[in-house]
Amino acid sequence: MASAPAGYDRLSKLKAFDDTKAGVKGLVDAGVTAVPRIFHHLAPALPHQVHHDKTTTSIPVIDLAAAGVGTADLVAQVKAAAETVGFFQVLNHGVPEASMSEMLASIKSFNEEPAEAKRPYYTRDPKRRVRYQSNFDLFQSPAANWRDTLFLEMAPTGPAPDDIPPACRAIVSEYTRQVQSLGRALLELLSEALGLHGGYLEHVAGCLDGIVVASHYYPPCPEPHLTLGTTRHSDPSFLTVLLQDGVGGLQVLLGERWVDVAPVAGALVVNIGDLLQLMSNDRFKSVEHRVVATTAGPRVSVACFFRTNGPAASSRVYGPIISKEQDPPGPGYRSVAVEEFLGYYKHKGLDGRSALDHFRLPP
Ligand code: OGA
Ligand code: NI
Repeated sequence: MASAPAGYDRLSKLKAFDDTKAGVKGLVDAGVTAVPRIFHHLAPALPHQVHHDKTTTSIPVIDLAAAGVGTADLVAQVKAAAETVGFFQVLNHGVPEASMSEMLASIKSFNEEPAEAKRPYYTRDPKRRVRYQSNFDLFQSPAANWRDTLFLEMAPTGPAPDDIPPACRAIVSEYTRQVQSLGRALLELLSEALGLHGGYLEHVAGCLDGIVVASHYYPPCPEPHLTLGTTRHSDPSFLTVLLQDGVGGLQVLLGERWVDVAPVAGALVVNIGDLLQLMSNDRFKSVEHRVVATTAGPRVSVACFFRTNGPAASSRVYGPIISKEQDPPGPGYRSVAVEEFLGYYKHKGLDGRSALDHFRLPP
Protein backbone atom coordinates (compact mmCIF):
# COMPACT_ATOMS: atom_id res chain seq x y z
CA MET A 1 0.00 0.00 0.00
CA ALA A 2 1.38 3.36 -1.01
CA SER A 3 0.92 4.91 2.41
CA ALA A 4 2.63 2.09 4.33
CA PRO A 5 5.54 3.48 6.33
CA ALA A 6 8.88 1.69 6.29
CA GLY A 7 9.06 -1.09 8.81
CA TYR A 8 5.44 -2.14 8.48
CA ASP A 9 5.47 -5.66 7.13
CA ARG A 10 1.91 -5.91 5.86
CA LEU A 11 2.33 -9.32 4.25
CA SER A 12 3.49 -11.02 7.43
CA LYS A 13 0.62 -9.40 9.36
CA LEU A 14 -1.85 -10.71 6.77
CA LYS A 15 -0.33 -14.18 6.98
CA ALA A 16 -0.40 -14.20 10.76
CA PHE A 17 -4.08 -13.21 10.70
CA ASP A 18 -4.96 -15.78 8.03
CA ASP A 19 -3.05 -18.52 9.87
CA THR A 20 -5.30 -18.13 12.91
CA LYS A 21 -8.13 -19.46 10.67
CA ALA A 22 -10.41 -17.74 13.15
CA GLY A 23 -11.32 -14.71 11.05
CA VAL A 24 -12.38 -11.31 12.31
CA LYS A 25 -14.64 -13.09 14.81
CA GLY A 26 -11.47 -14.49 16.36
CA LEU A 27 -10.09 -10.97 16.84
CA VAL A 28 -13.30 -9.81 18.46
CA ASP A 29 -13.40 -12.88 20.72
CA ALA A 30 -9.82 -12.09 21.76
CA GLY A 31 -11.09 -8.70 22.88
CA VAL A 32 -9.42 -6.32 20.41
CA THR A 33 -10.35 -2.73 21.16
CA ALA A 34 -8.48 -1.25 18.18
CA VAL A 35 -8.84 -2.22 14.52
CA PRO A 36 -5.53 -3.74 13.36
CA ARG A 37 -3.76 -1.84 10.64
CA ILE A 38 -4.34 -4.42 7.89
CA PHE A 39 -8.01 -3.38 8.06
CA HIS A 40 -7.36 0.36 7.81
CA HIS A 41 -8.73 1.97 4.67
CA LEU A 42 -7.47 5.20 3.16
CA ALA A 43 -9.67 8.15 4.05
CA PRO A 44 -11.37 8.65 0.64
CA ALA A 45 -12.89 5.16 0.82
CA LEU A 46 -14.39 5.69 4.24
CA PRO A 47 -18.04 6.55 4.92
CA HIS A 48 -17.71 10.03 6.38
CA GLN A 49 -15.98 11.28 3.24
CA VAL A 50 -19.04 10.94 1.05
CA HIS A 51 -22.44 12.50 1.40
CA HIS A 52 -24.60 9.86 2.97
CA ASP A 53 -28.29 9.85 2.24
CA LYS A 54 -30.61 8.33 4.81
CA THR A 55 -33.60 8.14 2.51
CA THR A 56 -34.60 4.81 1.10
CA THR A 57 -36.89 6.08 -1.61
CA SER A 58 -34.33 5.60 -4.38
CA ILE A 59 -34.25 1.80 -4.10
CA PRO A 60 -37.55 0.47 -5.48
CA VAL A 61 -39.56 -2.16 -3.63
CA ILE A 62 -41.40 -4.43 -6.06
CA ASP A 63 -44.29 -6.64 -4.95
CA LEU A 64 -44.10 -9.72 -7.19
CA ALA A 65 -47.65 -10.80 -6.35
CA ALA A 66 -49.54 -7.54 -5.93
CA ALA A 67 -53.26 -7.83 -6.66
CA GLY A 68 -54.15 -6.57 -10.11
CA VAL A 69 -50.55 -6.23 -11.28
CA GLY A 70 -49.97 -8.16 -14.51
CA THR A 71 -46.75 -9.49 -15.99
CA ALA A 72 -46.32 -6.54 -18.33
CA ASP A 73 -46.48 -4.20 -15.37
CA LEU A 74 -43.91 -6.25 -13.44
CA VAL A 75 -41.62 -6.33 -16.46
CA ALA A 76 -41.84 -2.53 -16.62
CA GLN A 77 -41.00 -2.15 -12.93
CA VAL A 78 -38.07 -4.54 -13.07
CA LYS A 79 -36.82 -2.95 -16.29
CA ALA A 80 -36.92 0.54 -14.80
CA ALA A 81 -34.94 -0.61 -11.75
CA ALA A 82 -32.41 -2.65 -13.76
CA GLU A 83 -31.73 0.26 -16.11
CA THR A 84 -31.22 2.87 -13.40
CA VAL A 85 -30.40 1.93 -9.79
CA GLY A 86 -29.51 -1.67 -10.65
CA PHE A 87 -31.00 -2.64 -7.26
CA PHE A 88 -34.50 -3.38 -6.04
CA GLN A 89 -36.10 -5.18 -3.14
CA VAL A 90 -38.79 -7.81 -3.75
CA LEU A 91 -41.78 -8.79 -1.65
CA ASN A 92 -44.03 -11.83 -2.13
CA HIS A 93 -41.06 -13.51 -3.77
CA GLY A 94 -42.00 -17.08 -2.83
CA VAL A 95 -39.10 -17.73 -0.43
CA PRO A 96 -40.78 -18.58 2.90
CA GLU A 97 -39.98 -16.26 5.80
CA ALA A 98 -39.21 -19.31 7.93
CA SER A 99 -36.41 -20.29 5.53
CA MET A 100 -35.01 -16.79 5.51
CA SER A 101 -34.85 -16.54 9.29
CA GLU A 102 -33.52 -20.07 9.65
CA MET A 103 -30.82 -19.35 7.09
CA LEU A 104 -29.70 -16.23 8.96
CA ALA A 105 -29.83 -18.01 12.32
CA SER A 106 -27.81 -20.98 11.08
CA ILE A 107 -25.08 -18.75 9.67
CA LYS A 108 -24.93 -16.85 12.95
CA SER A 109 -24.63 -20.16 14.82
CA PHE A 110 -21.86 -21.41 12.57
CA ASN A 111 -19.82 -18.25 13.02
CA GLU A 112 -20.35 -18.29 16.76
CA GLU A 113 -19.07 -21.82 17.19
CA PRO A 114 -15.64 -22.18 18.82
CA ALA A 115 -12.71 -21.47 16.50
CA GLU A 116 -11.66 -25.15 16.59
CA ALA A 117 -15.00 -26.20 15.11
CA LYS A 118 -14.73 -23.77 12.20
CA ARG A 119 -11.02 -24.21 11.48
CA PRO A 120 -11.38 -27.35 9.28
CA TYR A 121 -13.55 -25.34 6.89
CA TYR A 122 -11.11 -22.43 6.64
CA THR A 123 -9.40 -22.59 3.25
CA ARG A 124 -8.37 -20.62 0.18
CA ASP A 125 -8.28 -23.74 -2.00
CA PRO A 126 -10.56 -22.90 -4.97
CA LYS A 127 -11.16 -26.61 -5.58
CA ARG A 128 -13.11 -26.93 -2.35
CA ARG A 129 -16.80 -26.13 -2.78
CA VAL A 130 -17.12 -25.16 0.88
CA ARG A 131 -14.77 -22.37 1.89
CA TYR A 132 -14.85 -20.48 5.17
CA GLN A 133 -12.48 -17.52 5.03
CA SER A 134 -12.00 -13.93 6.01
CA ASN A 135 -11.71 -11.72 2.91
CA PHE A 136 -11.53 -13.70 -0.36
CA ASP A 137 -9.07 -11.04 -1.54
CA LEU A 138 -7.05 -10.73 1.69
CA PHE A 139 -3.72 -10.92 -0.15
CA GLN A 140 -4.81 -8.90 -3.21
CA SER A 141 -6.72 -5.88 -1.97
CA PRO A 142 -5.15 -2.74 -0.49
CA ALA A 143 -7.17 -2.99 2.75
CA ALA A 144 -8.99 -5.84 4.49
CA ASN A 145 -12.68 -5.82 5.46
CA TRP A 146 -14.25 -6.43 8.86
CA ARG A 147 -16.04 -9.57 7.67
CA ASP A 148 -15.87 -13.37 7.57
CA THR A 149 -17.55 -15.44 4.86
CA LEU A 150 -18.71 -19.00 4.29
CA PHE A 151 -18.76 -19.71 0.52
CA LEU A 152 -20.83 -22.63 -0.69
CA GLU A 153 -20.78 -23.48 -4.39
CA MET A 154 -24.19 -25.14 -4.66
CA ALA A 155 -24.68 -25.50 -8.44
CA PRO A 156 -24.06 -26.77 -11.07
CA THR A 157 -22.26 -29.23 -8.78
CA GLY A 158 -22.82 -28.87 -5.06
CA PRO A 159 -20.63 -30.10 -2.24
CA ALA A 160 -21.13 -33.50 -0.63
CA PRO A 161 -23.66 -32.83 2.15
CA ASP A 162 -21.16 -34.00 4.76
CA ASP A 163 -18.79 -31.24 3.68
CA ILE A 164 -21.31 -28.54 4.64
CA PRO A 165 -21.04 -27.39 8.27
CA PRO A 166 -23.72 -29.15 10.35
CA ALA A 167 -25.06 -25.82 11.64
CA CYS A 168 -26.43 -24.91 8.21
CA ARG A 169 -26.43 -28.24 6.31
CA ALA A 170 -30.18 -28.80 6.04
CA ILE A 171 -31.34 -25.24 5.52
CA VAL A 172 -28.74 -24.28 2.91
CA SER A 173 -29.98 -26.86 0.39
CA GLU A 174 -33.59 -25.91 0.96
CA TYR A 175 -32.92 -22.17 0.83
CA THR A 176 -30.83 -22.54 -2.34
CA ARG A 177 -33.67 -24.34 -4.12
CA GLN A 178 -36.13 -21.64 -3.10
CA VAL A 179 -33.84 -18.85 -4.27
CA GLN A 180 -33.33 -20.69 -7.58
CA SER A 181 -37.11 -20.61 -8.11
CA LEU A 182 -37.12 -16.90 -7.45
CA GLY A 183 -34.14 -16.56 -9.81
CA ARG A 184 -36.12 -18.30 -12.54
CA ALA A 185 -38.98 -15.80 -12.16
CA LEU A 186 -36.61 -12.81 -12.10
CA LEU A 187 -34.68 -13.99 -15.18
CA GLU A 188 -37.96 -14.34 -17.04
CA LEU A 189 -38.92 -10.76 -16.21
CA LEU A 190 -35.42 -9.53 -17.08
CA SER A 191 -35.43 -11.43 -20.40
CA GLU A 192 -38.66 -9.74 -21.36
CA ALA A 193 -37.29 -6.41 -20.16
CA LEU A 194 -34.49 -6.87 -22.72
CA GLY A 195 -37.04 -7.58 -25.45
CA LEU A 196 -36.14 -11.29 -25.55
CA HIS A 197 -38.41 -14.28 -25.06
CA GLY A 198 -39.06 -15.12 -21.41
CA GLY A 199 -36.86 -18.23 -21.37
CA TYR A 200 -33.80 -16.59 -22.90
CA LEU A 201 -31.63 -15.85 -19.88
CA GLU A 202 -32.36 -19.15 -18.18
CA HIS A 203 -32.47 -21.60 -21.08
CA VAL A 204 -30.39 -20.04 -23.84
CA ALA A 205 -27.82 -18.15 -21.79
CA GLY A 206 -27.72 -20.55 -18.84
CA CYS A 207 -27.86 -17.81 -16.21
CA LEU A 208 -29.55 -20.15 -13.72
CA ASP A 209 -27.06 -23.00 -14.10
CA GLY A 210 -24.79 -21.94 -11.27
CA ILE A 211 -25.29 -20.55 -7.80
CA VAL A 212 -22.73 -19.57 -5.18
CA VAL A 213 -24.05 -18.85 -1.71
CA ALA A 214 -21.82 -16.39 0.14
CA SER A 215 -22.88 -16.05 3.77
CA HIS A 216 -21.30 -13.10 5.52
CA TYR A 217 -20.78 -12.44 9.21
CA TYR A 218 -19.86 -8.86 10.17
CA PRO A 219 -18.73 -8.81 13.82
CA PRO A 220 -19.26 -5.61 15.82
CA CYS A 221 -16.37 -3.26 15.08
CA PRO A 222 -14.61 -1.27 17.82
CA GLU A 223 -13.46 1.52 15.44
CA PRO A 224 -15.91 1.56 12.52
CA HIS A 225 -14.59 4.88 11.21
CA LEU A 226 -11.29 3.19 10.19
CA THR A 227 -12.54 0.26 8.12
CA LEU A 228 -15.41 -1.17 6.10
CA GLY A 229 -17.55 -4.29 6.22
CA THR A 230 -17.23 -4.63 2.44
CA THR A 231 -15.26 -2.34 0.14
CA ARG A 232 -17.17 -0.74 -2.75
CA HIS A 233 -17.61 -3.20 -5.60
CA SER A 234 -20.05 -4.51 -8.17
CA ASP A 235 -20.93 -8.20 -8.22
CA PRO A 236 -19.25 -10.93 -10.30
CA SER A 237 -22.57 -12.56 -11.24
CA PHE A 238 -25.44 -12.35 -13.69
CA LEU A 239 -27.78 -11.53 -10.84
CA THR A 240 -27.52 -11.50 -7.04
CA VAL A 241 -30.27 -12.18 -4.48
CA LEU A 242 -29.31 -10.92 -1.03
CA LEU A 243 -30.88 -11.71 2.31
CA GLN A 244 -29.92 -9.30 5.09
CA ASP A 245 -30.86 -9.22 8.76
CA GLY A 246 -32.21 -6.10 10.48
CA VAL A 247 -28.89 -4.46 11.40
CA GLY A 248 -28.35 -2.45 8.20
CA GLY A 249 -25.17 -1.08 6.67
CA LEU A 250 -25.56 -1.95 2.98
CA GLN A 251 -25.26 1.13 0.77
CA VAL A 252 -25.58 1.66 -2.97
CA LEU A 253 -23.70 4.35 -4.90
CA LEU A 254 -26.18 6.45 -6.85
CA GLY A 255 -24.31 9.16 -8.68
CA GLU A 256 -22.20 10.71 -5.93
CA ARG A 257 -24.40 9.61 -3.07
CA TRP A 258 -24.27 6.51 -0.91
CA VAL A 259 -27.88 5.45 -0.31
CA ASP A 260 -28.85 2.99 2.42
CA VAL A 261 -30.59 -0.21 1.42
CA ALA A 262 -32.59 -0.24 4.63
CA PRO A 263 -33.75 -3.67 5.76
CA VAL A 264 -37.40 -4.23 4.81
CA ALA A 265 -39.09 -7.03 6.77
CA GLY A 266 -39.63 -10.09 4.60
CA ALA A 267 -37.93 -8.58 1.55
CA LEU A 268 -34.98 -9.84 -0.48
CA VAL A 269 -32.57 -7.46 -2.21
CA VAL A 270 -31.93 -8.11 -5.92
CA ASN A 271 -29.17 -6.56 -7.98
CA ILE A 272 -27.82 -6.80 -11.49
CA GLY A 273 -24.27 -8.22 -11.69
CA ASP A 274 -21.39 -7.40 -14.01
CA LEU A 275 -22.08 -10.28 -16.41
CA LEU A 276 -25.61 -9.08 -17.12
CA GLN A 277 -24.40 -5.52 -17.62
CA LEU A 278 -21.92 -6.89 -20.15
CA MET A 279 -24.54 -9.06 -21.89
CA SER A 280 -27.00 -6.19 -22.05
CA ASN A 281 -24.34 -3.82 -23.39
CA ASP A 282 -24.77 -1.44 -20.45
CA ARG A 283 -28.54 -1.33 -20.72
CA PHE A 284 -28.76 -2.96 -17.29
CA LYS A 285 -26.55 -1.47 -14.60
CA SER A 286 -24.29 -3.43 -12.24
CA VAL A 287 -24.12 -0.76 -9.57
CA GLU A 288 -21.42 -0.36 -6.93
CA HIS A 289 -22.30 -1.00 -3.33
CA ARG A 290 -20.52 -1.46 0.00
CA VAL A 291 -21.18 -2.34 3.62
CA VAL A 292 -20.15 0.08 6.33
CA ALA A 293 -18.68 -1.23 9.57
CA THR A 294 -20.61 -0.59 12.75
CA THR A 295 -20.40 -1.07 16.50
CA ALA A 296 -23.82 -2.69 16.26
CA GLY A 297 -24.14 -6.25 15.22
CA PRO A 298 -23.04 -8.85 14.50
CA ARG A 299 -24.69 -8.42 11.12
CA VAL A 300 -25.46 -11.48 8.97
CA SER A 301 -26.24 -11.48 5.25
CA VAL A 302 -26.51 -14.20 2.61
CA ALA A 303 -25.65 -13.29 -0.99
CA CYS A 304 -26.73 -15.80 -3.65
CA PHE A 305 -24.70 -15.15 -6.79
CA PHE A 306 -26.13 -16.59 -9.97
CA ARG A 307 -23.05 -17.58 -11.91
CA THR A 308 -21.45 -20.75 -13.09
CA ASN A 309 -18.48 -22.34 -11.41
CA GLY A 310 -16.41 -25.39 -12.08
CA PRO A 311 -14.33 -26.14 -15.16
CA ALA A 312 -17.07 -27.11 -17.62
CA ALA A 313 -19.62 -24.49 -16.73
CA SER A 314 -17.30 -21.56 -16.31
CA SER A 315 -15.57 -21.97 -19.67
CA ARG A 316 -18.77 -20.76 -21.31
CA VAL A 317 -18.19 -17.49 -23.12
CA TYR A 318 -20.43 -14.43 -22.78
CA GLY A 319 -20.62 -11.30 -24.85
CA PRO A 320 -23.21 -8.63 -25.55
CA ILE A 321 -26.58 -10.05 -26.67
CA ILE A 322 -28.09 -6.66 -27.39
CA SER A 323 -26.51 -4.96 -30.35
CA LYS A 324 -24.92 -1.60 -29.89
CA GLU A 325 -26.98 -0.03 -32.65
CA GLN A 326 -30.17 -0.61 -30.70
CA ASP A 327 -28.71 1.07 -27.65
CA PRO A 328 -28.08 4.66 -26.83
CA PRO A 329 -24.47 5.23 -27.90
CA GLY A 330 -22.17 3.52 -25.44
CA PRO A 331 -19.23 1.20 -25.19
CA GLY A 332 -19.41 -2.46 -26.10
CA TYR A 333 -17.54 -5.38 -24.61
CA ARG A 334 -15.45 -8.19 -25.89
CA SER A 335 -16.64 -11.73 -25.17
CA VAL A 336 -15.24 -13.36 -22.08
CA ALA A 337 -15.43 -16.77 -20.43
CA VAL A 338 -16.89 -16.69 -16.91
CA GLU A 339 -13.67 -18.31 -15.74
CA GLU A 340 -11.54 -15.52 -17.19
CA PHE A 341 -13.83 -12.85 -15.77
CA LEU A 342 -13.73 -14.40 -12.30
CA GLY A 343 -9.99 -14.89 -12.50
CA TYR A 344 -9.53 -11.21 -13.26
CA TYR A 345 -12.03 -10.15 -10.56
CA LYS A 346 -10.31 -12.20 -7.86
CA HIS A 347 -6.78 -11.31 -8.91
CA LYS A 348 -7.66 -7.61 -8.79
CA GLY A 349 -9.46 -7.88 -5.45
CA LEU A 350 -11.82 -5.22 -4.17
CA ASP A 351 -9.82 -2.09 -4.92
CA GLY A 352 -12.56 0.37 -5.81
CA ARG A 353 -12.29 -0.19 -9.58
CA SER A 354 -14.80 -2.01 -11.76
CA ALA A 355 -13.70 -5.32 -13.30
CA LEU A 356 -15.98 -4.64 -16.27
CA ASP A 357 -13.79 -1.82 -17.57
CA HIS A 358 -11.10 -4.37 -18.38
CA PHE A 359 -13.37 -6.03 -20.97
CA ARG A 360 -14.78 -2.86 -22.52
CA LEU A 361 -13.96 -2.20 -26.17
CA PRO A 362 -12.70 1.21 -27.21
CA PRO A 363 -15.53 3.33 -28.62
C1 OGA B 1 -21.70 -9.19 -1.70
C2 OGA B 1 -22.33 -8.04 -1.03
C3 OGA B 1 -23.63 -7.17 0.78
C4 OGA B 1 -24.03 -7.51 2.17
O1 OGA B 1 -21.59 -10.28 -1.08
O2 OGA B 1 -21.30 -9.04 -2.86
O3 OGA B 1 -22.35 -6.98 -1.59
O4 OGA B 1 -24.97 -6.87 2.65
N1 OGA B 1 -22.88 -8.22 0.17
O5 OGA B 1 -23.40 -8.36 2.78
NI1 NI C 1 -21.94 -7.28 -3.67
